[in-house]
Amino acid sequence: MEMGNAEENSLVLLKQGAEARVFESLFAGRRSIIKERFSKKYRHPSLDAKLTLKRLNAEARCMTKARRLGVPTPALYAVDTVLHTLTFEYVEGFSVKDIFLQFGSQGVVEERMDDIAVQIGNAIGKLHDGGLVHGDLTTSNMLIRGGTNQLVLIDFGLSFTSTLPEDKAVDLYVLERALLSMHSSCGNVMDRILAAYRKSSKQWSSTWNKLAQVRQRGRKRTMVG
Ligand SMILES: Nc1ncnc2c1ncn2[C@@H]1O[C@H](COP(=O)(O)OP(=O)(O)OP(=O)(O)O)[C@@H](O)[C@H]1O
Ligand SMILES: [Mg+2]
Repeated sequence: MEMGNAEENSLVLLKQGAEARVFESLFAGRRSIIKERFSKKYRHPSLDAKLTLKRLNAEARCMTKARRLGVPTPALYAVDTVLHTLTFEYVEGFSVKDIFLQFGSQGVVEERMDDIAVQIGNAIGKLHDGGLVHGDLTTSNMLIRGGTNQLVLIDFGLSFTSTLPEDKAVDLYVLERALLSMHSSCGNVMDRILAAYRKSSKQWSSTWNKLAQVRQRGRKRTMVG
């Protein structure tokens, strides 16, 4: 019999992606996010179920590892391997994407952007020194908690462990491209991020050298394609 609190069962779809749906809900009375991975129709069913589970567990593990490395992430409330869902704490605040898009217009001042850039550089430095590559560093996967202005990294769905400078350089390059295309009004924000990353990562020089190569490859690709 369905006797549950109607509010407790409510689900509001926030985002429908190619591999996951993201809902807002309540978990034990707390505002929460439910991320459901679903099958891809063109994959073999039993292989698909295995891959979906692997990704679900990998995302939970990488998020937990990031937190252990001192990088703020949402609290993980639950993992459901039958429904293929992860339930997280809802982070109240804004995405870095929205803040950066407002830069210059709605009173988002230079100091605010600087503070966020430093937090981003520190966070990536900690991840990389701990052997974790985020895999999808875009400004929509970074949230700023209201009140404390603390940076929170989300979406570890493409994360993996690696100590290779190449993987870390590609991680940074993805962010650089995202900033250039999405946030051109934010000027040299990537330079500020890299300055903070440089201070925070002990493996800076090997990653930096690789980044130069990765950028060059990227340039060649755009000239050909
Ligand atoms: N813990 C959270 N608190 C507040 N908002 C969140 C939280 N997690 C996700 N969101 C919101 O939902 C959006 C989608 O979440 P997420 O990035 O995890 O999914 P996705 O991009 O579909 O994942 P994937 O790239 O693995 O397919 C985020 O950009 C953010 O706006
Ligand atoms: Mg995302």
